[in-house]
Amino acid sequence: MKTYLAVFGATGNLMYKKLLPAIAALQAKNLLPKDTTVLCIGRANHSIDSYLSVAKEQIKEKINWELFTPLLEYFQMELQDIQGYQRLFQKMYQEGPSIRLFYLAVAPDLFPMIAKGINEANLIAKNDPTGRIVFEKPFGEDLKSAQAINSMLWNYFDESQIYRVDHYLGKEMIQNILVVRFANQLFENSWNHHSIERVIIIAKETEGIMNRGNYYDHVGALKDMVQSHLMQMAALIAMEIPESFDVDGIRAEKVKVLKKINIAKDDVLTGQYLGYLNENNILKDSQTETFVFLKAMIDTPRWKDVPFYFITGKKLDEKRSEIILDFKQNSQQNNLWPNRKIEKNRLVIRVAPGEGVTFRLNTKEHGLSTNIRPMEMDYCHDCEFVGNKPEAYERLLLDLISGNSTLFTRWDEIETSWKNIDNIYQFIPKPIVYTNFKDLKQAIKSQFGEVLE
Ligand SMILES: NC(=O)c1ccc[n+]([C@@H]2O[C@H](COP(=O)([O-])OP(=O)(O)OC[C@H]3O[C@@H](n4cnc5c(N)ncnc54)[C@H](OP(=O)(O)O)[C@@H]3O)[C@@H](O)[C@H]2O)c1
Repeated sequence: MKTYLAVFGATGNLMYKKLLPAIAALQAKNLLPKDTTVLCIGRANHSIDSYLSVAKEQIKEKINWELFTPLLEYFQMELQDIQGYQRLFQKMYQEGPSIRLFYLAVAPDLFPMIAKGINEANLIAKNDPTGRIVFEKPFGEDLKSAQAINSMLWNYFDESQIYRVDHYLGKEMIQNILVVRFANQLFENSWNHHSIERVIIIAKETEGIMNRGNYYDHVGALKDMVQSHLMQMAALIAMEIPESFDVDGIRAEKVKVLKKINIAKDDVLTGQYLGYLNENNILKDSQTETFVFLKAMIDTPRWKDVPFYFITGKKLDEKRSEIILDFKQNSQQNNLWPNRKIEKNRLVIRVAPGEGVTFRLNTKEHGLSTNIRPMEMDYCHDCEFVGNKPEAYERLLLDLISGNSTLFTRWDEIETSWKNIDNIYQFIPKPIVYTNFKDLKQAIKSQFGEVLE
């Protein structure tokens, strides 16, 4: 059967920067179904040649265009025009039944119009496993808008046909969290409040908002990063062992944890980088946060009294995304080695860059000294992989094609995350202005008493 991947928003940044390079990489690895066509849908009046010349200017990755071009077609249509969807139908059925995948790489306010068009033109019928539809984050702007989008979608599609992207879930090390946890008895036995003192979930960026002021100024770091990526990471770290490692087993446990997240009024700190107000398309007196630090407690027996700290922001000192688990110190250690400084054990799951796992433990200093020194066991996941490592979008597209939705988020996960975020908006503090991460570390120390190394 022929496979069509139709991308709405094919003239946008996501298509050029992520989707086209990922599709080209899948093709180069021979992972696409044999008879695949990518329909690049846009409202601009392009020929395939003019579309490709724009795409080539935008795409930095090395692509074998000679091989890739025959896969692509440009399809011009207006989103509000039902005839456009009817033409799509004719195209997709011209050689008989086909697999039809629709990727909405557009802002959420266009979701209802496109979903309606797809439904009215009968491009996806309920219960038909050959039709699937993908939505990019952000899925809504708050609980109410997300619920409205979702009920609209359920009018048209089955839950099994809806794929909600959180591209963090396609990253190698995110998928590795469950393996590190559950395939290592050492960690699984100590993955609880008896052994763990704190968990820190980090997604730091060095860039500002670039030219995305229109989008970012009414979203902010809390909705852009915490609602999706950081909540998902926390859920994977904190969930109980699932009954099975299939789609529903994992999602069910993630939702249970998300429902138990508590964030108290004084446990949120926000910041805005100096210069944000001079960016394009920002309100003159915008209070949008470009940085968030918050303390979440997870109300389950496993995580009693263990703080989960979330840190995310723009224009920070480094680009780094990782999860740190600091272990408690054993009180006997000080009796055994009085006057010796013993570092806490620390497990770091590095998501990007330099994917891997580091575990800090204490050893005796080499030679005649009796000093104790920390050393790091470092596993570099990247280094072991020969060839180009798969990007998150490659994995997600491949799963979409094969109909595996494990790495996409189910509605109840999104709904619960939005409830948590809406709750924070009841008391979100005004952002402090920062020029660098040092300012923020100082503020975190005064408000939370926590020192971040
Ligand atoms: N860029 C990323 O890396 C990234 C990552 C994760 C999620 N996302 C999400 O993905 C979505 C798209 O992001 P983006 O960065 O690609 O945005 P973008 O560069 O602004 O592109 C938006 C696309 O939507 C089309 N569009 C806008 N208004 C339209 C209308 N009224 N009718 C028809 N087409 C319209 C644009 O077409 P024209 O060219 O004709 O205007 C363009 O193709 C957003 O929701 C974003 O939050 C993006």
